[in-house]
Amino acid sequence: MGHAANLFFMGKGGVGKSTSASLNAVFLAQNACNVLLVSLDPAHNLSDIFGMKLTHRPTKILPGLKALEIDQDRWIRAYLKDVQHQVRNTYSYLSAFNLDHYFKVLRHSPGLEEYALLMAFRYFQEKYSGVDYLIFDMPPTALALKFFALPTLSLIWIEQLSALRTEIIRKKELITRIKMMNKEVERDKILLKIDELRDECQEVKEIFQDRTRTRIHLVMNSDQLSHAESRRILDELSAIDIRIHCIVHNKMQPLCPSPQTDTAYAAFPMLNFPYSKMPLIGIESLHRFINDIEHQVARELHACHMPHAPLTGTT
Ligand SMILES: Nc1ncnc2c1ncn2[C@@H]1O[C@H](COP(=O)(O)OP(=O)(O)OP(=O)(O)O)[C@@H](O)[C@H]1O
Ligand SMILES: [Mg+2]
Repeated sequence: MGHAANLFFMGKGGVGKSTSASLNAVFLAQNACNVLLVSLDPAHNLSDIFGMKLTHRPTKILPGLKALEIDQDRWIRAYLKDVQHQVRNTYSYLSAFNLDHYFKVLRHSPGLEEYALLMAFRYFQEKYSGVDYLIFDMPPTALALKFFALPTLSLIWIEQLSALRTEIIRKKELITRIKMMNKEVERDKILLKIDELRDECQEVKEIFQDRTRTRIHLVMNSDQLSHAESRRILDELSAIDIRIHCIVHNKMQPLCPSPQTDTAYAAFPMLNFPYSKMPLIGIESLHRFINDIEHQVARELHACHMPHAPLTGTT
């Protein structure tokens, strides 16, 4: 089965992640690609940009382009339900305790948002593997980085848990074998669950690191604060072996220096989106903007001649 290419748009608040993601989505749909644009940012912007009410189900925007805004609370509830179900099934001996009380507390625990986002991401990978592009408008930097780091961090935990569980089983088996006189010992349910979690995390980690499947667009403006935050994003992603695909220099003004003059960004393909005096709201103004920049950034666009080339520099 084929896979959709995942394009992520991340960057500092207000730099133009949602606008750049929408422009890329419209550009790709104009070029005969099948695109699903997904807002993973709980403070959604896409409805406002397209001037239509979007929901958590895909709404058609143009031929070849659908968009949706995830319902984060729904994913959190789904995640908690899943945990509840698994705990009940795996640790049946815990039914003597009042587990519901613990699940209520879990609802307020930190880290739920990134789990919910990751669950949503995995769902989109499976459900929409038939589209050419899944374009993700990302939440603010802190949450976006936690989302990308979650599989790697979970794997570290899982290895520890697995070692601990194996040790427990080894000791338990010794006793059981004596009691059961060498009868087949049932495969440990908890270890099976740990293995399953490991596979899931490994799979998502590989998707994030696979440059043919995942392209992260780092959106930035010319100001120092957006430069500083972008550098932190580059560093933190690189620490977990995730690369940036290209820099989107948005709201570019005629005399402002290009991020490419900064050595941190020199190696990346760059797409320059000029500052637009017209508000980039509504499908017509997005179309108009794309038509205008196709002349201005013809070189960048020519550099990505592949049939499903996103609106970015070369790979
Ligand atoms: N190239 C551009 N020229 C002019 N205005 C722009 C451009 N790109 C974005 N804007 C405007 O800048 C504002 C912020 O853009 P946008 O909402 O896309 O940013 P964002 O990074 O998604 O913000 P948030 O962090 O709040 O999600 C909006 O008013 C948008 O219309
Ligand atoms: Mg936004």
